[in-house]
Amino acid sequence: EEDLYIVYKGVHLIKQTHTPESLKYYDEFSFRPEDILIVTYPKSGTVWMQEIVPLILSQGDPVVVDTVPNWSRVPWLESRAFIHNLDQRPSPRVFTTHFQYNMMSTGFLKVKPRVIYVMRNPKDVFTSYSHFSRMTSYLVSPVTQTEFLHKFLDGKAIFGSWFNHVKGWLSAAEQQHIMYISYEEMILDLEASVTRMAQFLDTPLDSEMIRKITDRCVFKNMKKNKMSNYSLMPSKMMDQNGSEFLRKGIAGDWKNHLTAAEAEYFDEFYRKQMQDVKYTFVWD
Ligand code: PPS
Repeated sequence: EEDLYIVYKGVHLIKQTHTPESLKYYDEFSFRPEDILIVTYPKSGTVWMQEIVPLILSQGDPVVVDTVPNWSRVPWLESRAFIHNLDQRPSPRVFTTHFQYNMMSTGFLKVKPRVIYVMRNPKDVFTSYSHFSRMTSYLVSPVTQTEFLHKFLDGKAIFGSWFNHVKGWLSAAEQQHIMYISYEEMILDLEASVTRMAQFLDTPLDSEMIRKITDRCVFKNMKKNKMSNYSLMPSKMMDQNGSEFLRKGIAGDWKNHLTAAEAEYFDEFYRKQMQDVKYTFVWD
């Protein structure tokens, strides 16, 4: 673990991609009020959003998503690969971050760029994360599932505790610039979700455009986009032979992954952690 991860502001980050320079860069980053930030806990719908938001801004024109890999199209601000030329990008710029709310910089808090915060059922996040950890060289693989589950619940996964992440962002100050949505809502009604996002981003779209965007972003179609399915990633870093990045794309796959005892333990932990949270989650 010490080989693969570093601890930054109390959470584990990936040593290979989160360097002192990249983290300093993000901490000092100059936001613009027109910026758009996609914020997620890992495995909650990041790459899906990296497809949807650019298509909303281009009013359905697919050129960007067809020609630019997701990680340069909507770069992670904390990651070292992209810490150049971002200040030359025209507004509205779109970025991704997995940071917890209490890790955000004073620049962010002052400028208040728009945020779309995507949440996913943590049992499905854990399921997706378990598969993903086995296929990448830069994440610690599960030894046993139960041990991995305890690590996840105790906030030892990358970017820390899911519970702190969600609670922190849900109680963020100045909520007018934050839109909350869940992976499950997007699964249930992607057209309605895209419509809500377009409204939040002040980009009115007609129903034909919404349909076009939705059609491109449904799982089976998006999976074919080489610029978004991580097939451009070297297989030494991410081996997609056993399990793919766009793996199943459904809600509720935890039922195929967790034992009854693990699910029960998870639910009990969840109840304790979330008892004071007022938000109504689709999965509750
Ligand atoms: S990461 O590594 O944090 O950037 O991963 P992230 O993109 O957040 O999450 C990956 C999961 O999102 C699923 N996904 C989708 N589901 C439905 N529709 C579309 N279009 C879509 N795109 C990505 C992906 O399959 C991962 O979930 P699992 O459960 O593993 O299938």
